[in-house]
Amino acid sequence: MNPAIETTQLKDIVAHAKEYGFVFQSSEIYDGLQAVYDYGPNGVELKNNLKRLWWESMTQLHDNVVGIDAAIFMAPQTWEASGHVAGFNDPMIDNLDSKKRYRADVLLEDKAAEYERAGDPARGAALTAEMGRLLTENDLAGVRQLILDEKILCPVSGTGKWTEVRQFNLMFSTQGSSVDADAPPVYLRPETAQGIFVNFLNVQKSARMKIPFGIAQIGKAFRNEIVARQFIFRMREFEQMEMQFFIRPGTEMAWYETWKAARRRWHEALGLPAAKLRFHDHDKLAFYANAAVDIEYEFPFGFKEMEGIHSRTDYDLTQHQNLSRKKLQYFDNDLDPATGKAYGNYVPFVVETSVGADRLFLATLSNAFTEETITEGEGEAQQTKTRTFLKLHPAVAPIKAAIFPLVRKDGMPEKAQEIFDELRFDFRLVLEERDAIGKRYTRQDLIGTPFCIVVDGQTLEDNTVTVRHRDTREQTRMPIADLRAYIGEAVSFRRIFEKL
Ligand code: GAP
Repeated sequence: MNPAIETTQLKDIVAHAKEYGFVFQSSEIYDGLQAVYDYGPNGVELKNNLKRLWWESMTQLHDNVVGIDAAIFMAPQTWEASGHVAGFNDPMIDNLDSKKRYRADVLLEDKAAEYERAGDPARGAALTAEMGRLLTENDLAGVRQLILDEKILCPVSGTGKWTEVRQFNLMFSTQGSSVDADAPPVYLRPETAQGIFVNFLNVQKSARMKIPFGIAQIGKAFRNEIVARQFIFRMREFEQMEMQFFIRPGTEMAWYETWKAARRRWHEALGLPAAKLRFHDHDKLAFYANAAVDIEYEFPFGFKEMEGIHSRTDYDLTQHQNLSRKKLQYFDNDLDPATGKAYGNYVPFVVETSVGADRLFLATLSNAFTEETITEGEGEAQQTKTRTFLKLHPAVAPIKAAIFPLVRKDGMPEKAQEIFDELRFDFRLVLEERDAIGKRYTRQDLIGTPFCIVVDGQTLEDNTVTVRHRDTREQTRMPIADLRAYIGEAVSFRRIFEKL
């Protein structure tokens, strides 16, 4: 795809998100804080719906998955055990002329994508593989040399004068104690997963879980990203939806494949097109993982990671067990068919699924953003125009239906209010009386409302209304008494769940 088009599309989406109350730059009146965003009235509804969909599909549809909500702050030892203090780094490089800082791996990935766009995917793949090898070996001089060999230039200064590549820890920290200046820093968690690992036995015992079982969590995570860009794709404060699935050692590859397929199905059921989703095996496996794949989505700036599925072995639990000196083991009294004896005590292995709520939001919003050419009016009054609307799945749309009296008289506003008061117990609705009906439709199209219900003269005679459909603009007349079931059916998570 032409990069100019990609950028335009992203710009349109960013502008739309601001104008229609989906996403705002954080503290905008002070010129913003880089890579931090706020969700507006429609954004928070859409995001909450996505989170609820994930939560219910994890906990409600699986007998063996339960949830927790762990604190953001954790004992500092957590991050030593997990390896984040020593190794949660990104390789950074500075340009000597512009003084701008970049992630060395991102510069190389962008170059690889450039080869791909230019029709030479093999060269792109070779470059990514070489970068993966150098990073795995922590050969930072080699990474710098690769940047020089590829003649990568700073987009700001246009020069190739680069510093050495250095590792930069991504964790934010704050003072843990107000009285003890020597107290170790408390970190803002860079992933929610560790709150699950340290609670493994609490959950297993209190909820009487038997392996295999999972623990799901939605919560904020923080990373001091060097390169913060592409809108809400890479943020410093973001939200993760993670599920750690605890299993018997030796079964991890089968579970890894099961969750890989299940998570891809989930995105497709939500309406993300199969052609815009792909798996991407990690070029550089973390030292504790024995398999890892990203589910990538084709964002307006290309295919990028939306979710990670990782087989994390028993690394995290063993590390916490060693540092805390508390046993984090499970007694498995199922019989091993090979020996005829119980499997006994072991540290479980873990397969995790980890999706960013904000990246899922961006994927959903970009996929829904639709511009179509339509013809309106007849004869001489006929005109062609572009209609912009959000083709969101009704189950996640911020507003499920808008109710409009056709005119502000003849009892229509009162009737519309009556319908609104009845349906608001079930659905998030708006009631709008102002402006011409066409303008009101447009406003709802722009925020993705699937149905507009119009109260007109006939409503007062026979208690029927018209229901206008966002995607087709077609209108159907139906009894008011049928609205609840009709809307309920369309916006229910059930239709999505049935596809999983
Ligand atoms: N517990 C595993 C873990 O944290 P990760 O691949 O580093 O793995 C998982 O992150 C997901 O979290 C990513 O696939 C992405 O959706 C989201 N994510 C990570 N960093 C992010 C950031 N800076 N901004 C927004 N989302 C991010």
